[in-house]
Amino acid sequence: MTPDVKQIQKIIDQHHGDKSALITVLQDLQRKFNYIPPEGVTATAKALDVPLSKVYSVATFYSTFSLVPRGEKIIRICQGTACHIKGADLIQEQIEAGLNIKAGETSSDMKYTLEVVNCVGVCAMAPAVLVNDKMHGNVRCEKALKLVK
Ligand code: FES
Repeated sequence: MTPDVKQIQKIIDQHHGDKSALITVLQDLQRKFNYIPPEGVTATAKALDVPLSKVYSVATFYSTFSLVPRGEKIIRICQGTACHIKGADLIQEQIEAGLNIKAGETSSDMKYTLEVVNCVGVCAMAPAVLVNDKMHGNVRCEKALKLVK
């Protein structure tokens, strides 16, 4: 979704300049646009009267925030030890080939973003893949692409 300055400001204004709402504002922007647009960073700093560096610091600290546009579907392949042992590499290869993107990339049609993450806490269900925060465990290599599409 293309960021609209009025939409950005409306989200920020809901917090009435409350400095303690910095993370919440960024979460709201992230939720609305699927990333935090640059205009959102500067407008947040101004509205909450906090340094721009602090807003960037928070926005880059948490992995749930992104400062670059991401796809409609965010696919996270767990490459923690248990998932790695159970074939996460092959799953990643299947998905990369099927979507024609590498880990860390977004498809040109903005439908998919592929990320690699460490243990997501369901090692007993390894290998695990998250699609827009929906957990899929015991993922079979041959069904991985179908799962994310
Ligand atoms: S290593 Fe993948 S869920 Fe723990």
